[in-house]
Amino acid sequence: MWTATVPFADLVRRRKTRVELGGRAVALFLVGERVFALDDECVHKGRSLSRGTLWQGQVVCPGHQWKFDPETGAAEDRDDCQPVHDVRVVDGVVYVAVRPRS
Ligand code: FES
Repeated sequence: MWTATVPFADLVRRRKTRVELGGRAVALFLVGERVFALDDECVHKGRSLSRGTLWQGQVVCPGHQWKFDPETGAAEDRDDCQPVHDVRVVDGVVYVAVRPRS
């Protein structure tokens, strides 16, 4: 189910934000022209990815600086994977479809 979150213009200005969708915290990042959505709670030790940074197109967790591919959620040099969600932008609004927990 697609849920409207924030105006795309907000992400252009802030590059990242955190939203709550059905009780689940989701971090949104703007990388280039694309928006990506990942679980906000880091798969490592639960720090908030939306408090992290973007570096060379990767999401860097503020906890222990693990780097995640924003599209796949794959952690660099590790087997761990951060859950990701589907995103689309329609009429200037960012919509997210949260994937079920696996
Ligand atoms: S909590 Fe994210 S890297 Fe450790």
